[in-house]
Amino acid sequence: MVALARSTVMPSPSDETSEFAVDVLKGLSATRKRVSPKYFYDAVGSQLFDQITEQPEYYPTRCEMRILQDNAADIVKLIPEGAALVEFGSGSNKKARILLKSAPHLAAYVPVDICGEMVEQEAAELRPDFPGLNIHPVTADFTQEFELPEEARNAPARIGLFPGSTIGNFEPHEAAAFLRNAAKILGPNSKLIIGADLVKPAEVLNAAYNDAAGVTARFNLNVLVRMNRELGATFDLDTFEHHAFFNRERNRIEMHLASLKRQKVKVAGECFEFRAGETIHTESSYKYSVESLGALARGVGWAPSGVWMDEDKYFSIQAFTLTEAGSPKP
Ligand code: TRP
Repeated sequence: MVALARSTVMPSPSDETSEFAVDVLKGLSATRKRVSPKYFYDAVGSQLFDQITEQPEYYPTRCEMRILQDNAADIVKLIPEGAALVEFGSGSNKKARILLKSAPHLAAYVPVDICGEMVEQEAAELRPDFPGLNIHPVTADFTQEFELPEEARNAPARIGLFPGSTIGNFEPHEAAAFLRNAAKILGPNSKLIIGADLVKPAEVLNAAYNDAAGVTARFNLNVLVRMNRELGATFDLDTFEHHAFFNRERNRIEMHLASLKRQKVKVAGECFEFRAGETIHTESSYKYSVESLGALARGVGWAPSGVWMDEDKYFSIQAFTLTEAGSPKP
């Protein structure tokens, strides 16, 4: 049975699929079940994510775009002549576009994303609008080390762009690891421009992750659809529910998938039991202050070098410069 299921469900198990399987089996075997948020972003997940950013309750994308638009001229002063802009996790090119328009002195733009199809498509859309710019997409998992294309390596400076408060989706120690890895990837003479969501009243935060149209719920549940399809899992979508709430002690939004009843589910040939109400933790979204992100970055060799916020102080764009101490040792 298992062999049959495998041959029909996974016609050609790629490395990607087996990494997914290994990760999921490990996460679901933990006392507190979890699945990594990086698996949200299949084709459907990426589309749903774009829809989340358009929901009236989801303020971060609008705030961030606004801050970029209002301050682009000031922000690009950080970018030296001939530098390369490297965007980590560039789902959509909307944000980079604002900076690219204001920074004609950039030599190269390197969007990096785990979803190769997406990153190639976004690059193709940008090229006609920026004919003088060398646009060189890279398909990579930016939590791992990878090599930049030659144009970016040879540029006099490299500017990392990490928008969307994706930094908040890491545990704080993972955020520190990301910043260290960014230092390795970008090398000496680099800066980082990070979009970080700020701590604010819980009502505003809870509404943002529980949009009335239910798009965030569908996005969260889509990871079960993906496991059913790619790992031959047997999740019944009517028996799991989206839960998202602000955890004040830890300054984070938690997203969970809660089992509405006691049940057993098969995933990649293994059986998992759920108690009624038991959840799979699918994502956290940490909320920072200018001080807390600054302290985290400083600790791994990135010195704060600029902050821009919206009027309500809902969201921040924070810039950092790699110090001698943070620079990768040759
Ligand atoms: N990083 C952003 C945030 O935490 C965007 C995001 C990632 C998101 N995963 C999400 C938004 C899930 C809503 C739901 O807000």
